[in-house]
Amino acid sequence: MNTTTKGTTMKVLVLHGINLNMFGKRDPAQYGTATLAEIDQRLAALGTELGAQVACFQTNHEGAMVERIHQAFAEGQDAVLINAGAWTHYSWGIRDALAILKCPVIEVHMSNVHAREEFRHHSVLSQVVRGSVCGFGVDSYLLALRAAVAAVRG
Ligand code: DQA
Repeated sequence: MNTTTKGTTMKVLVLHGINLNMFGKRDPAQYGTATLAEIDQRLAALGTELGAQVACFQTNHEGAMVERIHQAFAEGQDAVLINAGAWTHYSWGIRDALAILKCPVIEVHMSNVHAREEFRHHSVLSQVVRGSVCGFGVDSYLLALRAAVAAVRG
């Protein structure tokens, strides 16, 4: 187990935003064919390997996402991964909620957002995240989990 400075097992929360429940059915050229449930299983398995407890959450409702981020603050999550979907490009509410967190936050995208439409090139989350991983499909999440564990270990 990877323990934190608090002596507890490392807790990593993975947040999936708007439309991401449709992975596996939606635009396979950009997002591949893995379902969200399969992605969550891969994250849980890698978490076990790395000694971290991984919990996953998806919503299509911006307020519900903001409230889950507030809960993450109260729970003392050690790291947060977020693929905010299209909210990435315009949600100041989610940006401000993430800014409340004291733990490392890593932005994730399955597709290479910089190689796509202009509106996807800008992330309103960039200023409040430790870093971002995009363009590697499911591996974007897995690489981000490895980065999160390394960031918490210091
Ligand atoms: C996405 C990229 C976003 O631009 C898009 O709105 C999504 C998915 C990705 O994982 O590549 O819904 O976040």
